Amino acid sequence: MFIKSTVIGTLAFISTCAAVPRYKPSRIDLEHRPGSNIKSKYDVDTLTEASRFWFGNFDVGDSKNLSLLIDTGSSDLIVNPGFYRPGPGSVNTHKNFTISYGSTESDGSGTGTVTGQLYNDTVRFGAMTAHQTVGTANAGPDGTSLVPKQGIIGFAGLEESSFHGALPFFHSLCAQGKVDACRFGISLGDNGKGTQVLGQLDESMFKGELTTSSIIQEWALWTDIALDNKIILKNALVELDTGTATILGPVDDVVKIFKAASIQYNIQESESAGTTVTGYFPCDQPPQLGLSIPSRSNATEAAKKHSRLVSHKSSVFNIKPDQWIAKDNGNNNCTAIVSGTDAMPLSNLWVVGQPFFHGIYVDHNIADGTLGFAPVRA
Ligand SMILES: *[C@@H]1O[C@H](CO)[C@@H](O)[C@H](O)[C@H]1NC(C)=O
Ligand SMILES: *[C@@H]1O[C@H](CO)[C@@H](O)[C@H](O)[C@H]1NC(C)=O
Ligand SMILES: *[C@@H]1O[C@H](CO)[C@@H](O)[C@H](O)[C@H]1NC(C)=O
Ligand SMILES: *[C@@H]1O[C@H](CO)[C@@H](O)[C@H](O)[C@H]1NC(C)=O
Ligand SMILES: *[C@@H]1O[C@H](CO)[C@@H](O)[C@H](O)[C@H]1NC(C)=O
Repeated sequence: MFIKSTVIGTLAFISTCAAVPRYKPSRIDLEHRPGSNIKSKYDVDTLTEASRFWFGNFDVGDSKNLSLLIDTGSSDLIVNPGFYRPGPGSVNTHKNFTISYGSTESDGSGTGTVTGQLYNDTVRFGAMTAHQTVGTANAGPDGTSLVPKQGIIGFAGLEESSFHGALPFFHSLCAQGKVDACRFGISLGDNGKGTQVLGQLDESMFKGELTTSSIIQEWALWTDIALDNKIILKNALVELDTGTATILGPVDDVVKIFKAASIQYNIQESESAGTTVTGYFPCDQPPQLGLSIPSRSNATEAAKKHSRLVSHKSSVFNIKPDQWIAKDNGNNNCTAIVSGTDAMPLSNLWVVGQPFFHGIYVDHNIADGTLGFAPVRA
């Protein structure tokens, strides 16, 4: 889900040549000194899918094994009404929060606001535990919750947080020295199972070298967009968001792509959703559309500056053909997973959701301020 008030790009761009690490390289703890009882500080966790949303299992205070939506488009941890049981160290901060989300539905549409109270407590994911500010949501007017299952956990940065300066969970792990490296990886599979790696780059999970790009903020970057491996759109501002079920782009960009791919489309206007573009393609012939990373202009710049962090050549990462079907309308007519909308927080913003993460390992490197991509090992 993306944050409705996002202002990507007003923040300083993280330089390609001399990114200033925001976290020091992890120090070697005495108790983890090589030769003694070596214990690496990273973890590999399983994610599971339900209706194109992805969940991991967390303990929050004394609430065990909560199923929380893994969201790289927001930053805060919210537990749905009735699911929070304070742990022994729980502190009521006597502060409230309000967050407005976009792309709350499985078809990429939907918006909503969550309000509630803030507590400090422990949060555990796999072998990793952080002291953390958590939000407990108030029930909606009709007693329902906006977020599916038991809540949501954001993996974006402080810029997208609504918790009055409290660090997001993964930042807490970094700041509290719980991880070897301040980076996490996500890769989604086709069997309803995905993987999240906390605190390292897991080279066993992908093939070849990572292709890397600098970020604008966590987790947005510039890319080109490629149809049949040829660039048809330059310098697209892309927010990568595991918590968005589909792929959403600006109306004009999406129309241009649908035309170039000979995809039939409808433009609808409505008061609630604004202008939207829906595409229909023959189910057995999905288009080959992908992100070319880094954008050619960013790659050229990186080469000129001899950047060690950003790739000097772009690579195309295509959406897997089997991810294209948003809906099967029968008679070999399928609704496309990519759609256009003018209801974004920024008019030129693409929100590239979970379909993109299938078959690709995406490394979110906070220490270097980069995103890295590689095809997963079969
Ligand atoms: C945690 O919850 C999941 C369902 O969300 C269940 O499959 C799993 O067995 C539970 N694990 C434990 C240790 O209770
Ligand atoms: C927090 O919200 C509750 C209602 O849910 C309200 O009673 C309380 O006054 C609010 N507290 C602050 C500090 O705004
Ligand atoms: C709660 O934790 C935040 C950091 O996440 C800290 O800044 C704040 O002082 C804590 N509040 C209380 C009441 O302990
Ligand atoms: C990347 O490309 C964008 C769009 O052209 C540009 O605004 C930005 O300055 C570039 N960044 C770097 C570090 O080259
Ligand atoms: C595909 O289905 C949609 C929705 O029912 C319809 O609007 C469109 O005209 C259909 N396209 C073809 C080629 O049948």
